[in-house]
Amino acid sequence: MNEFHEGSRIAGEGKPPAYPQTGVANTCRAFKEYEAMFRLTEADWQAGPVLDVAGGGSSFTAHLRGIGVDAYAADPFYAGLTEQVIADAEKEIEVSSAKIAANANAYDWSFYGSPEQHRKLREQSLRRFAEDFRSEGARERYVAAALPSLPFEDGFFSLAVCSHFLFLYADAFDERFHTAAIEELLRVLKPGGQLRIYPLVTLKWEPIPYLPKLIDRVAGLAEAELVPTGLPFTPTPSSLLRLVKLG
Ligand SMILES: C[S@@+](CC[C@H](N)C(=O)[O-])C[C@H]1O[C@@H](n2cnc3c(N)ncnc32)[C@H](O)[C@@H]1O
Repeated sequence: MNEFHEGSRIAGEGKPPAYPQTGVANTCRAFKEYEAMFRLTEADWQAGPVLDVAGGGSSFTAHLRGIGVDAYAADPFYAGLTEQVIADAEKEIEVSSAKIAANANAYDWSFYGSPEQHRKLREQSLRRFAEDFRSEGARERYVAAALPSLPFEDGFFSLAVCSHFLFLYADAFDERFHTAAIEELLRVLKPGGQLRIYPLVTLKWEPIPYLPKLIDRVAGLAEAELVPTGLPFTPTPSSLLRLVKLG
């Protein structure tokens, strides 16, 4: 146990402070973070194609492409000029690191070790993203698109992931948006394909009241399961949502 565990949410000292955020942040989580938060293994991505929706500056797509997986990311952020997108994601590391440091004791540091290591991982991730985003043909795999509408064929992907967009920003995007977004993500999955979403709490670290209703609503399209994440961090623990598209 490290110093950040002490006095953290684990000690249970009342309601954790909300994460202060206006608009949607363009963060850049690393492949290693995705692998842990979504509990992914090689079997999950090797069939391909894979989609990272709301991919931001994450290295997930670059890493998978580097090991020969047919991987794509979709995000309205990619409509920007290449260097501006990279600069915005770089700035977000600065801003988010300061916000997290200001409330470090609210978080679970067992995965990252410390705020410094958290930041270092994000910097490495952004370098990997930037290298791929600057490369030839990048715009064919980093697609400017916004949920609830995706420019991909029905049944194209075997795996889609959504990290830190759906549900996290539930104060800005309503239940109807979330239902339409999930139906759209299921549309672009093959039968038997998986959609994994994390976290299932808002920026106020509160659960989503309509989540059970939403899962019921898509029950004819997909089988749902809540799975413990392998990346504990949020002040309120959250599972990941795994949906498997019915055949
Ligand atoms: C907090 S970042 C997460 C980035 C990355 N997935 C990660 O975990 O580091 C949220 C991303 O959602 C994107 N976003 C905002 N509105 C969106 C929409 N309607 N559809 C898809 N992505 C959206 C933002 O541009 C931003 O890059």
